[in-house]
Amino acid sequence: MERPTILLAVGAETDAHVEALQRAGFEPVLFNPEDPDATSEVDLAVLDCDLAPAAIQSVYEHLHRTKSTPTLLLVGENTELPPSVGGSGDEVALKPIPPEALVYRLQARLIRTGRHLPSESGAWASEESLSSAPIAGEGHVVSVFAPKGGVGKTTIAVNMAVALRQQTRADVLLFDADVGVGNVTAVLDVPVKMGLADLFDSPPEEWTDAVFEQMVSVHAESGVKVLTWGSDPAQSERVSVDLLLAAMKWARNHHSYVIVDNHPGYDDRTMAMLAVAHEIFLVVTPEVGAMRNSSQFLELARELGLGTVIRVIVNRANHGIRLQDMATALGLPISATVVSNGPKAIISSNEGHPVVTKFPREKIANDLHGVARLISQPNGPTPGTELRAARKWWSRLGPRASEA
Ligand SMILES: Nc1ncnc2c1ncn2[C@@H]1O[C@H](COP(=O)(O)OP(=O)(O)OP(=O)(O)O)[C@@H](O)[C@H]1O
Ligand SMILES: [Mg+2]
Repeated sequence: MERPTILLAVGAETDAHVEALQRAGFEPVLFNPEDPDATSEVDLAVLDCDLAPAAIQSVYEHLHRTKSTPTLLLVGENTELPPSVGGSGDEVALKPIPPEALVYRLQARLIRTGRHLPSESGAWASEESLSSAPIAGEGHVVSVFAPKGGVGKTTIAVNMAVALRQQTRADVLLFDADVGVGNVTAVLDVPVKMGLADLFDSPPEEWTDAVFEQMVSVHAESGVKVLTWGSDPAQSERVSVDLLLAAMKWARNHHSYVIVDNHPGYDDRTMAMLAVAHEIFLVVTPEVGAMRNSSQFLELARELGLGTVIRVIVNRANHGIRLQDMATALGLPISATVVSNGPKAIISSNEGHPVVTKFPREKIANDLHGVARLISQPNGPTPGTELRAARKWWSRLGPRASEA
């Protein structure tokens, strides 16, 4: 398949962006006013909204002449968009956008529109080869993330998956994507099977549904299915972004809910798992260190267009910084809280049982059910720490309005 073409209609200093896009396997094309018709052929576009209004309008019209080309509009704090520019297929990024952020932003956009990232070699992984099954449905993907280790991501992902299964009886897949470190199967008693790392020797055309299906273990007590990256840290390099995305495509096609336990960091694998998520549950503990890391993550996430899909879950919520102060500092409401209960958490994980089934009457179990209800009852009551932030004028464009 061809490399995806990106039209760049931006001001000066584009070299670093062009190079970053090429390195990531994209084919950047600079806007040429002499040949505006070439504009309508591209896959995605980046349009600087501080160019001359007539130029913006002309580029935008060409991008929407024969098809609606998804466009990333770069705006400054004081940018006034011409009236005919900006619609539901577009996204907005604040300037200046660093080259890596532009790459992630466009990658996220491709993934969400159901396409695959260009591989490191610059060639496209073939759609057909990645998963041949007909689409059975679109699973709702929730990525559980924190930039800081040890705050309770795995505890929340495991218990949320089991609670969600109990609440809905739907097909729930727990996806351990904490490559190299995480091992969901150490805290959830499931028969250990293969992991994605075992596909190391197989070419992408062998990453079929049947292969992924074989890797799944079932947690007998709840019926939650588990797919892991593997268990041997020495094999972590075997799990590529492409492989994780192929597994995610299969996962979404065959389950109602996919809960992803992520690595704490900003590596490409984790960023891909965040980019494909419908919702990101950011786990924070009421401590200054965790708060600082979370604020930095939120800043990055907003730059990448992921800001609107993040929900803040406060773990060990009964100690430390007050919830209202956390919401204010993060600029987001607290969507759910989980009380601290060390003894019960340790007994549960040591025995391989989720807290929600081992200690169903404890407050911690009730709280973890509350986290799952954010998904099973998305229109349920919101907690009292709602934050009414002033909406920016450009929020009408909706950064994820065009989700596939
Ligand atoms: N609400 C809680 N109350 C008491 N203990 C908890 C709670 N949540 C998590 N823990 C304990 O804290 C430890 C770290 O939790 P967990 O492994 O879920 O964190 P993590 O964010 O996934 O860590 P890592 O970044 O290493 O993957 C575990 O021992 C877990 O049992
Ligand atoms: Mg973990």
